Amino acid sequence: MSAYELRDIEHVTIVGCGTAYYAGLLASYYLEQLVDDLTIDVVVASEFRYRSFHMPKRSVALIVSQSGETADTLACLREIKRRGVRTLGIVNAVGSTIAREVDGGIYVHAGPEISVASTKAFTSQVAAMTMFGVTLAQAKGTGLQKTAEFVDELSQLPNEIKKVIRTHQDEIKTIAKKYARYDHALFLGRDTLFPVAMEGALKLKEISYIQAEGYATGELKHGPLALIDDRFFELLLISEGWLFEKSISGLQEVKARGGHVIVVTNSSKQIDADVVIRLKTKLDTLAPIVLNVIQQLFAYYVAVARGNDVDQPRNLAKSVTVE
Ligand code: AGP
Repeated sequence: MSAYELRDIEHVTIVGCGTAYYAGLLASYYLEQLVDDLTIDVVVASEFRYRSFHMPKRSVALIVSQSGETADTLACLREIKRRGVRTLGIVNAVGSTIAREVDGGIYVHAGPEISVASTKAFTSQVAAMTMFGVTLAQAKGTGLQKTAEFVDELSQLPNEIKKVIRTHQDEIKTIAKKYARYDHALFLGRDTLFPVAMEGALKLKEISYIQAEGYATGELKHGPLALIDDRFFELLLISEGWLFEKSISGLQEVKARGGHVIVVTNSSKQIDADVVIRLKTKLDTLAPIVLNVIQQLFAYYVAVARGNDVDQPRNLAKSVTVE
């Protein structure tokens, strides 16, 4: 897309299924921060394709798919194109159907993702959409200071991920063994950690078969608190910054009801939980991507502890080419 076409964009619709949807949800927070005059919605492909949706004139649709063959996402792409809206692919599989049918796009180059559970593709999809946001902001001339901060963090992301894996792998393996006996879990996060909590719950459920649910921490008192008992554990994502105290109050709500709480955080502050997995990362805005790597390792080791086939979980396929 030319700089003129980018400047013309006023609305972005991000389309995906499963992990691709959660990647879009996380990226939407970053796009909002990067581009002032942009409206964004993030939709589940299998729902959106049947809706009587309206997209503003100066829209672009980001079509997110690791495989580039997901039937619902492909159907959405075709419907959006039929309405004359420009489409950009955020795809991993080179030459896939979605990659060939979009008007343009970004290959995320995560390398072949063999396991059914999408892990490196999630990280790469978020990074690619964030880079799209940076490009959009630069074309529109908005928030140049902000784009510089994002570019700096994006450049550090690969090393920060390597560091987290190297530093925490053994710790997470030990913790996972302890929590593998549970059959229910709640993953909780605020702000950019809310989509990450939902992605963490998806990762755990699809390879360990533990019934896991991701929720916005602020929603606890609107129902989920009723679930808390000894059959459940809770994983709370807490980031350093303006919502830290609010996140701690969510932790206290869970603990007051006898919750079994794991906290995953990049804060160095004192936190009272059964387990605290504390990351040291240079990242701030993009820290949620690194916190998610902890969730991926946790899901992997829980599934291993439960004797599951981590790469080929029951009932699932790597690419959902059926509707
Ligand atoms: C994620 O771990 C799952 N394998 C699944 O939710 C997946 O993200 C979804 O089916 C979308 O696949 P796609 O990215 O290949 O379109």
